[in-house]
Amino acid sequence: MPTFASDCLKDRTVLITGGLGAIGQVVVGRLLAHSARVAVNDILNEETARQIFDQQKWPVDRARYVRADVTQAREAQRLVQETITAFGRLDVALCHAGMAHTSSILDYPEAEWDKILAVNLKSAFLVAQAAARSMVKHGVKGKIIFTSSWVQDVPWPDITPYNVTKSGMKMLMRGMARELAAHGIRVNAVAPGIVGVGMAKRQWDTEPDYRRRAEKAIPLGYLQPPESVADAMVFLSSDAADYITGVTLLVDGGASLYPMD
Ligand SMILES: NC(=O)c1ccc[n+]([C@@H]2O[C@H](COP(=O)([O-])OP(=O)(O)OC[C@H]3O[C@@H](n4cnc5c(N)ncnc54)[C@H](O)[C@@H]3O)[C@@H](O)[C@H]2O)c1
Repeated sequence: MPTFASDCLKDRTVLITGGLGAIGQVVVGRLLAHSARVAVNDILNEETARQIFDQQKWPVDRARYVRADVTQAREAQRLVQETITAFGRLDVALCHAGMAHTSSILDYPEAEWDKILAVNLKSAFLVAQAAARSMVKHGVKGKIIFTSSWVQDVPWPDITPYNVTKSGMKMLMRGMARELAAHGIRVNAVAPGIVGVGMAKRQWDTEPDYRRRAEKAIPLGYLQPPESVADAMVFLSSDAADYITGVTLLVDGGASLYPMD
């Protein structure tokens, strides 16, 4: 169901990394409902992707799967290239792929540190850079949107390296916004809170300590619907956000007001 005018992304091509994840699928559905063409990236195999496309009933003429590991520069560049080959242009890049690993900082393994930096931060840099290069080359005044998190500014425990990646993403976003403004490219971030699907839900279901803390951390009092993340992305992708750049749009039910008393 569209939230905004159902043609507000007509003739726009959007790419999204991690688009087959729990939040990603909802974002793709919302983008399509607002008439966008969508290049859906993930690392899942083609058969799994096909099943998700079928289940979601995404229209084949406006949704295309591009399997790529966006922690690799060449793959990120290929993703942008295949998007343009499929749809003729690239208007919006959503750097959305991410992962979390729970561990006290005392035990956090070096290999996991390297992995989370690569999946959450390096991939965002690589895809944003490849998208920006293409937009500059083709004279497209496009939009780049990062998926950050409310924990970019809050030291939520047991996921400190995750928080570091989202903090780094905030400066990447602000720096790119500053540098690319001269080209008319807008760069922003959406910072969700504790969403009722995906990685937070996995922690909610399996980590009693997490759940105890999370239950007290949302002033609005309920887990975040993924549609609220998708709507923020549709808004930032649309003409209505043309005068916005360098901003984190917090969509977190007030979680960033933590600590609560
Ligand atoms: N779930 C939450 O509460 C929450 C809150 C704030 C921010 N976020 C952010 O939202 C985004 C999506 O989270 P989610 O909860 O839907 O998680 P998810 O695990 O359901 O989805 C992540 C997707 O990214 C894909 N991916 C991982 N590595 C990749 C790679 N190298 N190349 C391409 N794709 C890759 C995965 O296959 C998966 O489909 C992440 O950036 C996450 O940090 C989530």
